[in-house]
Amino acid sequence: MPTTSTFLPTCVSVDLSALAHNLAQFRKGLSPGCDVLAVIKANAYGHGSVHTAKALIRQGVSRVAVVSIEEGITLRQAGINAPIVILGPVFHEQFTELFTHQLTPVISDAAILPALGQAAASLPTPYPIHLKVETGMGRLGLAHAELVDLFSSRKFPRALHLEGLMTHLADADGPATDTTEEQLTRFRKAIEIVRTSGFRVPLIHAANSAGAVRFPDAQFSLVRPGIMLYGYHTLPPSIAAPDLKPVLTLRTTIAQLRTVQAGHKVSYNGTFTAKTPTKIAILPIGYADGLSRHLSNRGSVLIRGQRAPIAGLVCMDMIMVDVTGIAGAAVGDEAVIIGRQGDEQITADDIARWTGTIAYEVLCTIGPRVPRLYHEG
Ligand SMILES: Cc1ncc(COP(=O)(O)O)c(C=O)c1O
Repeated sequence: MPTTSTFLPTCVSVDLSALAHNLAQFRKGLSPGCDVLAVIKANAYGHGSVHTAKALIRQGVSRVAVVSIEEGITLRQAGINAPIVILGPVFHEQFTELFTHQLTPVISDAAILPALGQAAASLPTPYPIHLKVETGMGRLGLAHAELVDLFSSRKFPRALHLEGLMTHLADADGPATDTTEEQLTRFRKAIEIVRTSGFRVPLIHAANSAGAVRFPDAQFSLVRPGIMLYGYHTLPPSIAAPDLKPVLTLRTTIAQLRTVQAGHKVSYNGTFTAKTPTKIAILPIGYADGLSRHLSNRGSVLIRGQRAPIAGLVCMDMIMVDVTGIAGAAVGDEAVIIGRQGDEQITADDIARWTGTIAYEVLCTIGPRVPRLYHEG
């Protein structure tokens, strides 16, 4: 991590006290005994997985989830000893790495269980796994019939410990509740099948952020929040969300200013033509840093507490913004892409609206070359 004295023209700053605040607010809605499995995949939705994991663990989170074994190894190599659940698919070639780094796989395909069981047979104790049940997402997971087959015929390998049983909700933030209710009914049946076969599964989980807030029935022993920890949500307006604060600010700095005359064009392919003499600021951030090209001639940034519209196409490493109306705009001024400046604010939701996506994508596509700085408050 860069030291705080390094000058960073373009950087993300992550407010760890906002992260702690969001966790505390989210926890207020949990039933007693229900714990948080914090989802920190995709570099903690762009916030930086190692620092985010450490901050959450300091707040009492006992387990974290990522998608890939590589993401899990990054956390282990940073000294994180808490249980790490790998939500994504696991391949035969990865068993050794899984065991070496003590990562807990989610098994979503019954076909891999015999081989995993065989690989784990030489370990001193049964290896913990979570089993995923497909209840309506149409993605990973064992279908009902596969689950019945696995447990009724006692095929579950002895070298494995069934630590968790999970599913994933497809529509917890949708306008209606019926899809989620049907999924929860199917999941309860799956729990019954496993329990009646004599397995006592300590960890049962189904709900993402929206599921946990909107469907108290979906809070089993764990819930898996991601987006709400980072200060955003996608709940319909009729549902009260916890009081959340965006954790991440993305800022850059004016590198150069130029006044272009009426008729002059700005950026590739000349999609912006100045109508009158126009003051253009050049900012060192582009689509390689995660600023979508769909923001070309659309979005704006904050400079001196005012909105400066993006002029022309977003380049790989730069954007140009119109600062004609911003008195005193100067080289070295801060330009906020996501965050607050004065009385103005641009959120990841605003950028998502301008670019036709969701805040998740805006956050997790912030590029790896943008340094992340961490602070409390
Ligand atoms: C399996 C799983 N659980 C939980 C989450 C967290 O979801 P959210 O960020 O909506 O809380 C995700 C995110 O996509 C996921 O894939």
